[in-house]
Amino acid sequence: PATVGEYPHTVDSRPIGMFDSGFGGLTVARALIDLLPNEDLVYVGDTGRYPYGPRDLGEVREFALEITEHLLSTHDVKMVVVACNTASAAALDELQKITPVPVIGVIEPGAAALLDATRSGRVGVIGTVGTIGSGAYQRAVAQNSDAVELSCAACPGFVEFVERGETDSEQVHVLAERLLAPLVDADIDSLLLGCTHYPFLARTISDVMGRGVVLVDSADATAFCVSDMLRSGDALRDGTDRGGVHQFESSGDIEAFRALGRQLLGPELDEVAALSWPEARS
Ligand code: DGL
Repeated sequence: PATVGEYPHTVDSRPIGMFDSGFGGLTVARALIDLLPNEDLVYVGDTGRYPYGPRDLGEVREFALEITEHLLSTHDVKMVVVACNTASAAALDELQKITPVPVIGVIEPGAAALLDATRSGRVGVIGTVGTIGSGAYQRAVAQNSDAVELSCAACPGFVEFVERGETDSEQVHVLAERLLAPLVDADIDSLLLGCTHYPFLARTISDVMGRGVVLVDSADATAFCVSDMLRSGDALRDGTDRGGVHQFESSGDIEAFRALGRQLLGPELDEVAALSWPEARS
């Protein structure tokens, strides 16, 4: 390809598509924007149908297929990042089979980051009921290491606190103490936040777990995976400093999404477009 300075010149100018049930995937979007500031991004927050965690995985798979189809047909994305553990657990395999562009989930990168972080070999993963119940992390960790002792806990209720913008209240602290007690007892040294909403609760989770436990999240690891894949496929946008265009869409209240999303992600979240799904599916 032609070059501008040392960089390959505009190899694939299509945007990266990503989605989550709501605000959680913004943790991955933040990492991606910081790592690849020139890439265009389209983020779908399916707040009209959140939370995904308590839903049947088959239903979450339908949602994931529908959003991916939307990202491809409306935005012509060059890659799909499933920035949601529950949707990754429910649909990643199928999406990778049927989608004509690369699809990346958050479970493999998160599990790898967890295994890198541990020294004692006693690790934990927390996630939604759907993610933990699917066994996806148990499989990902077992495939990569047989020497670790993994403790898992579902944390129903955490996502709802984040979606309300309540990340540091007394109530969320009380809930965290109850849900995380088995992990405190398991004497782990590293804990993976296996739900993309949970990094917003990191302070509370860290208070409960103690400073000796390293909190690991999948945002940076997933962003590095995206970057590696685009680089190796010669599919980066370009090497100039134009700065990416970041679009946000929500299937719920778009004003609420803008207000809280901007607080959680930062100034790149400026406008939010409304999305609606066919009646029968919502
Ligand atoms: N942020 C999502 C996850 O990583 C989904 C949370 C939910 O909607 O329950 O699992």
